[in-house]
Amino acid sequence: VGAPDKQARKQIFQIHCKGKPLADDVDFDRLADITERYSGADLANLCQEAARKVAAEVLEKGADRKITMDDFIELIKKYKPSITLQMIEDYEKFRLDFERRVRKGEEENEYFEEKISLDDIGGYEQIKTELKELLELQLFHYKLLEKLKIPPIRGILLYGPPGVGKTMMAKALAKTLKVKLISLSGAEIMYKGYEGAIAAIKEVFNRARENKPSI
Ligand SMILES: Nc1ncnc2c1ncn2[C@@H]1O[C@H](COP(=O)(O)OP(=O)(O)OP(=O)(O)O)[C@@H](O)[C@H]1O
Ligand SMILES: [Mg+2]
Repeated sequence: VGAPDKQARKQIFQIHCKGKPLADDVDFDRLADITERYSGADLANLCQEAARKVAAEVLEKGADRKITMDDFIELIKKYKPSITLQMIEDYEKFRLDFERRVRKGEEENEYFEEKISLDDIGGYEQIKTELKELLELQLFHYKLLEKLKIPPIRGILLYGPPGVGKTMMAKALAKTLKVKLISLSGAEIMYKGYEGAIAAIKEVFNRARENKPSI
């Protein structure tokens, strides 16, 4: 899951501006053009800040006005993208390493009733389709896979810069496929130390078994 491309950035802006009062000069194509390396979270933040800025002005001056292109441009100058070139390079290295190896060898602990759907995620069409089809096959057609002697997937690793929607995708997939999402954070794994971590991970898999199919 890389940094969002131009098309994705445009859609992310549209999603997060929905319902906000926008002036006619707000040009999503242009905004997408000038926000390279901004993550989805960065873009969501820009939209929030623009709305906040206008609201503060309206309260102060009493004159009503909408969010303009200049508001966005001012904020874009102020907030740098959180994805650095170095990160992109490192992830690219990770990808190459990972592919090489594969070829060589072959929140609180609770269930979420997810509200996020795949349509709430801007861009990443191919990744979304691929993940959905892969999971559908695995979760609902495993008998067929068994019959065809296709080994089950061992897991899916989403990697990429912070805030690009990895967690969001997991949530959206759980909702779309109507299965439970069981999540485990780094902090939850480690809070009882190294020994406790093994038990914590085993426990999560037990719960997954009890609640199958689940993600
Ligand atoms: N493609 C996207 N479309 C719409 N909103 C997005 C997108 N990517 C990120 N966002 C916004 O950014 C927030 C953070 O995204 P999320 O938590 O899924 O990122 P992540 O990739 O899991 O990050 P981390 O590596 O820090 O775990 C989302 O809740 C959403 O508001
Ligand atoms: Mg995440």
